[in-house]
Amino acid sequence: MENSSNNTLILSNILDCHPNLVVFALDKNFNYIYFNKPHFFIMKNIWGVDIKLNHCMMDYINSEKDRKKAFYNFHRALSGEYFTLIEEYGDEDLERTFYKDSYYPLKDDDGTIYGLTVIVEDVTVNQTDKNEIRTIVSKLEEQIDTRSIELEKINNDLQIENQRRIESEKELFNVKNQIEKSLAKEMELNKLKTKFISMVSHELRTPLTIIQSATFLLEKSYERRDDEKFLKNLDKISKSIDTMTGLMENVLNIGKLEHGEVKASKKVFDIAKEIKDLVKTNKVYNRVVKLNLPKESIFVDSDKILCIQIVNNLLSNAVKYSHNTPEIKLKLKANGYQCKITVKDKGIGIDKVNISNLTEAFKREDSISSLVQGTGLGLSIVKHNLDLLDGSMEIESELGKGTKVTVIIPR
Ligand SMILES: Nc1ncnc2c1ncn2[C@@H]1O[C@H](COP(=O)(O)OP(=O)(O)OP(=O)(O)O)[C@@H](O)[C@H]1O
Ligand SMILES: [Mg+2]
Repeated sequence: MENSSNNTLILSNILDCHPNLVVFALDKNFNYIYFNKPHFFIMKNIWGVDIKLNHCMMDYINSEKDRKKAFYNFHRALSGEYFTLIEEYGDEDLERTFYKDSYYPLKDDDGTIYGLTVIVEDVTVNQTDKNEIRTIVSKLEEQIDTRSIELEKINNDLQIENQRRIESEKELFNVKNQIEKSLAKEMELNKLKTKFISMVSHELRTPLTIIQSATFLLEKSYERRDDEKFLKNLDKISKSIDTMTGLMENVLNIGKLEHGEVKASKKVFDIAKEIKDLVKTNKVYNRVVKLNLPKESIFVDSDKILCIQIVNNLLSNAVKYSHNTPEIKLKLKANGYQCKITVKDKGIGIDKVNISNLTEAFKREDSISSLVQGTGLGLSIVKHNLDLLDGSMEIESELGKGTKVTVIIPR
């Protein structure tokens, strides 16, 4: 123990013996943990202070600019840097001197930094040198300032460039999305085209086959003078022609609707009467549709043809998708400004996920498309007609339980 304090004393004496060997050490809070005598005298000369151990060196430096400089350099050393700088310190009124300061971090046995030490060399020779060094330093500082401004500008430019790049990437992403959407639409359209062609040929084949066989039988019944069979086959032919005409009409109709070629032509008519006539004159509807109409006339200022097309398509679906025992209710209600038509069946129902798509042309439920004949145009025509009349439609359905379609038509 005694040996160690002896060593410390000897070392301290060594460090004090030459006036040009100036050294001090600080802890992490810049408190003195060591200084030799020449440093004590320098601090007295340039700041007019009597420094003490365990006191913060910053408290002795009474120039803001010098304090900042020292603070910055101490931090560099505390973060592990070794470096040497020529710098000027001191009170303007006492003595301002140039020093060559070498900064070192102080590390314990584990390598942990616990402070720093500075070895100071007075490099000032005379007043002329001082002035020269000052000029060089101020030029250097100016250069650093200019460089900093340039760097800041470059940094700003880079940020703007970066922002532009981000925006371009966003734009590219949007364009890519649009192209993908168009491609998907194109593919969907192609699918629909194929579906349309196969649907039309399929829908035409059935009535054509009926016409073909009925024509053959017509000839036979004519030869046999069998009037009953002759009329029956004639009826079959006429019905098949009606089916084909209906199909072609639907196709033409949807084409016109989609190209905006159909315009609503409004006139006042009794919609209750028109619905009653439609149901009474159709053999199937007359048998299976239960009407719930107001006793009085319901006059609307609307397009009669478009309205009846709507009701006809809804009834045709209700019948078609109700197997063999249709139980259909049609209800008409009206208030001062609109009328509400509800068509309800107890048929096969529609899968909820598909309801919203069925008003697109040629869309049909996959599960029934091969079992029940249809073009997938009825609801699309209904939707187009309602758009022309400023009306609306709601479809509620449950698989296996039935479907309720409600349309609202302004009066
Ligand atoms: N009342 C209903 N019950 C069950 N499914 C229905 C009903 N109405 C419509 N759908 C479903 O909606 C699809 C589209 O109907 P839409 O009337 O547009 O075409 P379609 O009946 O198949 O053919 P089209 O009416 O052109 O002859 C139908 O194929 C069917 O799957
Ligand atoms: Mg239909």
